[in-house]
Amino acid sequence: MIILGINAYHGNASAALVCDGYLVAAAEEERFNRVKYAAGFPARAVRYCLEEAGVSIAEVDRIAVPRDPWARLASKARYALRLPRFALDRSKALVRFAGIREELARACEVDPARITAGLHRVEHHRAHLASAFFIAPFEEAAVLSADGLGDFASTMWAAGRGNRLEVRGAVEFPHSLGLYYTAISQYLGFWKYGDEYKVMGLAAYGEPAYLDEFHRIVRNGDGTRAAGRSLPAPIGRHPFALGLEYFVHHRDGPDMTWRDAGRTPVLGRLFSDDLASLLGPAREAGATLERRHQDVAATLQARLEEVYLGLLNALHARTGLRALCLAGGVAFNCVANGRIFDRTPFEEVYIQPAAGDAGLAVGAAYYVYHQVLGLPRTFVMDHAYWGPGYSGAAIRQALDRAGLRYRELPEEALCREAASHVADGQIVGWFQGRMEWGPRALGNRSIVVDPRRPEMKDVLNRRIKHREPFRPFAPSVLEGATGDYFERASPSPFMTLAYPVRSEKRAAIPAPTHVDGTGRLQTVSQKTNPRYWRLIKEFERLTSVPVVLNTSFNENEPIVCTPEEAVDCFLRTQMDVLAIGDFLVERGPS
Ligand SMILES: [Fe+2]
Repeated sequence: MIILGINAYHGNASAALVCDGYLVAAAEEERFNRVKYAAGFPARAVRYCLEEAGVSIAEVDRIAVPRDPWARLASKARYALRLPRFALDRSKALVRFAGIREELARACEVDPARITAGLHRVEHHRAHLASAFFIAPFEEAAVLSADGLGDFASTMWAAGRGNRLEVRGAVEFPHSLGLYYTAISQYLGFWKYGDEYKVMGLAAYGEPAYLDEFHRIVRNGDGTRAAGRSLPAPIGRHPFALGLEYFVHHRDGPDMTWRDAGRTPVLGRLFSDDLASLLGPAREAGATLERRHQDVAATLQARLEEVYLGLLNALHARTGLRALCLAGGVAFNCVANGRIFDRTPFEEVYIQPAAGDAGLAVGAAYYVYHQVLGLPRTFVMDHAYWGPGYSGAAIRQALDRAGLRYRELPEEALCREAASHVADGQIVGWFQGRMEWGPRALGNRSIVVDPRRPEMKDVLNRRIKHREPFRPFAPSVLEGATGDYFERASPSPFMTLAYPVRSEKRAAIPAPTHVDGTGRLQTVSQKTNPRYWRLIKEFERLTSVPVVLNTSFNENEPIVCTPEEAVDCFLRTQMDVLAIGDFLVERGPS
C-alpha cells in the first residue's frame, strides 16, 4: 500500500510518501524551489519522495490531500452569503483542487491516465490530528490541533487509541488562537508569514502588563473576561472566543494573498482600528521597539498560554489520558509547550518536527492508512531525517567544483576536529546525512558554535544570520545530560519545547540561554543521530559542557538542501569551517 500525501496550494507546501505504513520520505517544497514557506503545488517535493522510494507515480495506490471542500459546508455557505468574495475564493480553490491529478501528472511528466490512485480529501484538522498521533510513540493519547485556519476551523481535539482517532470537538472560524497571535504580531509590526516566532522571542523581554485588555481580545468560552480564570472543563462548544471588534477577518474574510506568482503566502491585515484604541498606536514595521511593545508581546504570550493550557487541562479532564500529542501552527509555541508539564496533568508530550501545515502531507497519508483503511499502526517518527541525502561522491564533486581544499576523515577524527574548532570559537557548518523534515535544523543541516561564549550570538548575527538581536538561539544537549542543564529532563528531540536552564548552569551556556533564562532545546540521542551526538560528546570531552549552540544552515533563505547550496553558503558568509559528509574544509587565512 503506497500512499502519497500532498499539502498543496497553501503555505508550507510539502509531500510525503508512506509505504506499507512506514514513512519513506517527506520534504517541504521550499527546500527545492528556494522560496521560503513556498505555497503552490509541491512538484519537486513529490518527485523527490517518489525517487527516494524508487516508485513511479503509476504505482501509488492512494493520494491523500489535507483539504475537504465539503467540511463545514453549512457554515461556509452562511458566510459566503455575507461575503461574496469569500464564495469566489472558495470556488477558485475548488477548481484548483479538482485539477490536482493533472497537476501531479505534469509534475511527474506522465499521462494523467497513468495515475490510477484513489484520491482522498482529508479535512485539514483531522490531518493535523493524524500527523500528531498516528506517528507518536503512544498507544493512546489526547490530541489537539490548533492553528490559524483550515477548512473553516481553527481548533480540534480528539482521543487517539490504536489506529483510531475519535474527534471530540472543534472551534470554527472566526475564533482562532493562531489568527489572534498573527493579528497581534502584525500590530507589533511583524507582517511576514512566520513572524509569530519572532514575537514569541520578543515576549521574554516584557511583562504581561495588559492582561485586562487581552481578556477583551480573547475571551473565555463562558463569556467572562476575568483575569486568571481557567477554562471550564469539560470543553464547552466554545472554549474561547475572540473579541471580534478588535479583528477584521470575520468581516473581510481571511485574506491570504500570494506573491511571486502565487508561490509565497502573505496574510492581509487582521486587526481593526479598535485594537489601537485599546492598546495604543500600532508599531510600524522596522520602527524602534519600545518597552510598551515588549509588554504587549509578553501579554500576547501570557494570554495564549492561559487559553492553550486551559484547553489542555479541559482535554485531560475529558479524556483522562496521560499522554498528549499536538499539531497545528500553535504547537510551534515552544514556550507554551514547555509549561505543559508544570501546568497540566499530562506526563508525556509528542510534537512531530513539522507540526505546522507542512506536516499535513504526513497526516493526510496516515489518516488514510489508519482511519480510512483500518490498517494497524507500525511506525513511530523518532527522528526528523526524512529529506534528501547525498553520496560522498556528490559532496566531493561540489567541493571540487568550488575549488575548495579539504581533507577526508574517519568519523571519529571528523567529530574531534570539528568539536575542537567549535571550542576555539569558530563557526562550523555541519552538513550530514538526510535533510530535516520541518522548520528546525536538528544536526544535519546546522551551524554549530560554542555555547559558553556569550558573544557568539552577536558574532553569528553579524557574520551569517542577520537576525533581530532579541531573537534567541537554541541549544543541542546530549540526551543523558538534559536534566543536568535544564529544569526538566523530558525529551525534546525536535526543538518544540523550551525549558528553564538550571540557574547554576546559565553562566556555563550563556549564548543559547534566552533573556528569561529558558532554552528551546534539542535533546540529541545517540540512537537517532550518532554522528551529531558524537560531535557534542567530543565537545564535552574538550570543555566538560555537553551542549552546543545549533542554528539552521542558511543565510536569509530556506535551510540548505544540497551540498552545492551548503558550499555556496559557506563561501558567501564568514563561516570558518565546513564539515560536510566525511570532509572537513577549513578556511585558510585570506
Ligand atoms: Fe493548519
